[in-house]
Amino acid sequence: MDRKVVIFDHPLIQHKLSILRDARTSTKDFRELVNEISMLMLFEATRDLPTEDIEVQTPVGLAECKQIAGRKMAFVPILRAGLGMVDGLLKLVPGARVGHIGLYRDEETLQPVEYYCKLPKDIEKRDVFVVDPMLATGGSAIDAIGQIKLRKPRSVKFLCMIAAPEGLEKLKEAHPDVDIFCAGLDSHLNENGYIVPGLGDAGDRIFGTK
Ligand code: PRP
Ligand code: URA
Repeated sequence: MDRKVVIFDHPLIQHKLSILRDARTSTKDFRELVNEISMLMLFEATRDLPTEDIEVQTPVGLAECKQIAGRKMAFVPILRAGLGMVDGLLKLVPGARVGHIGLYRDEETLQPVEYYCKLPKDIEKRDVFVVDPMLATGGSAIDAIGQIKLRKPRSVKFLCMIAAPEGLEKLKEAHPDVDIFCAGLDSHLNENGYIVPGLGDAGDRIFGTK
């Protein structure tokens, strides 16, 4: 099956993304919006989960129903901005495990520098959703997914708020088996590696550090 690349055109996601981009949006609203958009994106990113038939006794009769067929999930935020997406994801799948990968971009070279990695023990049995609001040069996502793949998870998907075309192409090339979900795809990167028009520094806007 071909790998999926989804750029969302759903009105709810587009509306929330517009408010997220706005420089006047408060830290509190920014956090809430990141979680809400993450939830809406996960709804689509879990579309291919296998289901099995079950029977449920309602007050009126027996209903032929479906339930998710025993797939285990793990969410892995790329620190620090990816943390802002986790609460929204856990609202939809409260039983998922959460791993963490700590990476920051060296401001001069724009290369990712890894400082932390803690993943669920049984990750080889899990479908992993790697999350980070920004896919800029693609270096952080490529590196994080590479680390996770060394542990042989069942599958890997990547979710972000905004991608730059440069990063999206690099990620597609580096990990051809990874489905990619972006709430928006922007114009280009500027000379500092920031997405234009983007939303600024996602970590700073989530944690109020600037
Ligand atoms: C941001 C963002 C991504 C990375 C994207 O993190 O959250 O992880 O940059 O850039 P790339 O695609 O060019 O690698 P940053 O390095 O600013 O760290 P922070 O989350 O700790 O603020
Ligand atoms: N990281 C961010 O937080 N924003 C960008 O535009 C690029 C990288």
